[in-house]
Amino acid sequence: MKTLQNIPQMSTQDMNNSDQDSEPKFRPVLHALTANPGAEMMRYADGKKDIITLGQGEGDAPTPDFICDAVAQALKDGKTFYGPVLGSNELRECLSDYYQRIYDLEIPAERVFVTSSGSTAMHLSLAALLDKGDEVVAITPIWKNLLGAVELTQASTKQVSLDYIDDQWQLDLDKLFSAVTEATKVILIVTPSNPTGWTARLDELRAILDFARERGIWVLSDEVYGRLVYDGVRAPSFLDVAREDDLLLVVNSFSKSWAMTGWRLGWIVGPRIAEDKIRDVALYNKLCPPTFTQYGAMEALENGEEFLKDQLALWHSNRDLVVERFKAMGNVSMSYPASTFYAFFKVDGEDDCIALTKRLIDEASVLLSPGSAFGKEAKGYIRLCFAVSEKRLTEALDRIERVICK
Ligand SMILES: Cc1ncc(COP(=O)(O)O)c(C=O)c1O
Repeated sequence: MKTLQNIPQMSTQDMNNSDQDSEPKFRPVLHALTANPGAEMMRYADGKKDIITLGQGEGDAPTPDFICDAVAQALKDGKTFYGPVLGSNELRECLSDYYQRIYDLEIPAERVFVTSSGSTAMHLSLAALLDKGDEVVAITPIWKNLLGAVELTQASTKQVSLDYIDDQWQLDLDKLFSAVTEATKVILIVTPSNPTGWTARLDELRAILDFARERGIWVLSDEVYGRLVYDGVRAPSFLDVAREDDLLLVVNSFSKSWAMTGWRLGWIVGPRIAEDKIRDVALYNKLCPPTFTQYGAMEALENGEEFLKDQLALWHSNRDLVVERFKAMGNVSMSYPASTFYAFFKVDGEDDCIALTKRLIDEASVLLSPGSAFGKEAKGYIRLCFAVSEKRLTEALDRIERVICK
């Protein structure tokens, strides 16, 4: 992969050549992967003292005991063998019940495929759908890993950016639809969005699905932040407006809602025709999701609402704190995120988000994520994850203010 440190000194052509000379045995696509500025900044901050890390998408609370206890018990009970490729029937049923309880939707267990993380769910979906030459139309700003995952399939990506109007991120459906061509196989969308917090409304979801249905193309929706909402119980989902047999894959994860980022468990909801195909891809990928962790996942689904509510209460007041503090600084603009735990902001006169992120590491000892990680149009922005204690967040904001309000 290209690194940012090298880019100023070398042309892309030089880099490709030198990469190929030094690593001729790898697939060409690996030499062509675009740089990941977020990961680069993490490496840049690595080893520096007293860093407050708000650059990654997770809170600082560990997984609650009641979830861990279920896994400890599963281990004691010898649940250490291979399991079914698409997850245990018990967990798939449990997810089906969860959709009934929380989403008021009937999703039969056969349409739920458990995976070894939301990331894996995305890779399996892309591997099932895309070939070289296919095109993905992606709504951006978007989590960089999803763009990287598409690059690995050798499909191309066309980015359609949300518009920033009156301090709000907004989707222009006409712009999205006119980006679709004969080569488009998939519309990729993250809602609620990392990094902007933008959340598609039901009418937008319906319009996108109607459009895709008419053209026989897939909608791939990443809804891992679907429960991280500050108004109501969950965000609108494509599943609310979908028919059972729509070409729709919805990716989800245990990571964000129940502080389980290190567990690597997620799931996909798809049409029945996808079950065998995703199973084939998953078989040759991970064989099956980890067996004992699935017991923790069931515990999270069945008894995790209180924990999630407490987390959301903290993040809600943290969000308000960030918005208030940035407003008071006077030179920062950002939208008010109705969902997720991210503030995506821009500092007046600071157009080089990588330089500013580096300065914040060097001068404030705060690690954030540069906007250029999230798509072509997101340059200049910076993402801050506020899912930490209020004390830590306040300290980070004090430090940031000292640098950007000098
Ligand atoms: C949009 C989005 N999808 C997926 C993931 C990763 O989920 P998981 O931890 O289950 O791989 C993230 C993590 O930040 C994300 O932002």
